[in-house]
Amino acid sequence: MDKKTQTEIFSYAKEWILEAGELIRRKINDPLIIETKSSPKDLVTEIDKEVEYFLASKIRETFPKHYLFSEEGYGDDIKSLDGIVWIIDPIDGTMNFVEQKRNFAISIGIFHQGIGEIGLVYDCMAENLYTGLKGQGAYKNDHQLPHLEESLKLDEAILGFNHYWLCENDVIDERVMQQLVKKVLGSRTYGSAALKLAFIAEGIVDGYLTMNLAPWDIAGGMVIANEVGAVSTNLDGGPINMLTRDSTLTCHPAIQNEIINNYLKKGKKTK
Ligand code: IPD
Ligand code: CA
Ligand code: CA
Repeated sequence: MDKKTQTEIFSYAKEWILEAGELIRRKINDPLIIETKSSPKDLVTEIDKEVEYFLASKIRETFPKHYLFSEEGYGDDIKSLDGIVWIIDPIDGTMNFVEQKRNFAISIGIFHQGIGEIGLVYDCMAENLYTGLKGQGAYKNDHQLPHLEESLKLDEAILGFNHYWLCENDVIDERVMQQLVKKVLGSRTYGSAALKLAFIAEGIVDGYLTMNLAPWDIAGGMVIANEVGAVSTNLDGGPINMLTRDSTLTCHPAIQNEIINNYLKKGKKTK
């Protein structure tokens, strides 16, 4: 994508995500209609749907040739990443939205021919907007985020992941995950994949790994994290499939091989 197109699309996306954040702040204390989806822990509210509808309407009106890949049903039936595709999670961290009224984000990733060009993650309660444009760096509001420092050891790293993976599961041997938790300096769970990725860009977390996420959970945050030098693969070290659910590891490049080879491959369960 040329720089002019990238900048033009970004300026619309920024305007709309800020507006969507305002909408959420206005309604944050209203009574919510809460439904469950795939499980009792998988929540959705009418605000998730309203935010997605708002963004979908703006995109369709302004960019009728672009595609939309999104969580709550207003998107297209996406089978490939050809063309320009907006990958949107209207609220990432809906459980936090419902229970805490903070620690959630609106996430937008804009891909061109399968390449992440633009990322926006808006923590609208804290009014922190994280952005990244491929080749142009990452920002937290108006402040450019520095490139990751050159070296980092695993025992100096803070990793984000879901503590569910320390329980018995059929993907990775939980004892190996426990060894990883013991090895690193610290581990954190925030309840929003998009925010965890933005925190990597900010340099306050050094990596984030998870076994099973949808493209809209990670599309925006990954572009931002990659702009400061973080690297992203699935847990086998291969490319992440952005058309379906996949595992993901985004981290400082200095700790990537050790996490994959000494822990994830070692602990992988064969079905
Ligand atoms: C969830 C969040 C959470 C992750 C879940 C996701 P949602 O997204 O990203 O951090 O652990 O797997 O589903 O449902 O709140 O959009
Ligand atoms: Ca999500
Ligand atoms: Ca969501």
